[in-house]
Amino acid sequence: MPVLVAYATKYGATRGIAEHVARELTDAGHPAETLPAATVTDLSGYTAVIVGSAVFAGRWHRDARDFVRRHGAQLRERPVWLFSSGPLGTATHDKAGKDLVETSQPLAIAKLVEATGARGTAVFFGALDTARLDRAGRLVMRVPAARDVMVEGDFRDWPAIAAWARGVASELSATRG
Ligand SMILES: Cc1cc2nc3c(=O)[nH]c(=O)nc-3n(C[C@H](O)[C@H](O)[C@H](O)COP(=O)(O)O)c2cc1C
Repeated sequence: MPVLVAYATKYGATRGIAEHVARELTDAGHPAETLPAATVTDLSGYTAVIVGSAVFAGRWHRDARDFVRRHGAQLRERPVWLFSSGPLGTATHDKAGKDLVETSQPLAIAKLVEATGARGTAVFFGALDTARLDRAGRLVMRVPAARDVMVEGDFRDWPAIAAWARGVASELSATRG
């Protein structure tokens, strides 16, 4: 049975990360497929599940939160990992010196881990194209503090994403025995 990489995206960056994770898992001997989280109705055909979501205002995309709510029981019965696509820019630390990967975890990450029984979580840098922002996004961009962190560009760190996926593959191999 394959591994499912279910993702929730608004602008597409998270889908690209999900596809990269799935390719790495497949290359490592764990065939994986990607699906938008909102389209998944049953997890019984999957050995393991990775759930990835874009982060907006500190929260996972609604499709990912609904996915966890809908499939909590099935998720807890199989190996699960979570990833978030959030921070933007090339800085690794914020103005207060805090690691952006840590501060960009969704506010509810502990609850998401508890609800899914996740074995691990990751935060990856994302991407932003301001020309594609919806009205709410454009409003956020008018707040000076938000403008500091909403850096335009594609900051997805493909080697970091691949390394994490290979770590997941190793754990799956160990589980399979
Ligand atoms: C309105 C708005 C709010 C955002 N809020 C956050 C946030 O709170 N934390 C964070 O790490 N990234 C935040 N981001 C950055 C997005 O998570 C990032 O651009 C992500 O890669 C978008 O994923 P998607 O293209 O899959 O929708 C925000 C982006 C927008 C447009």
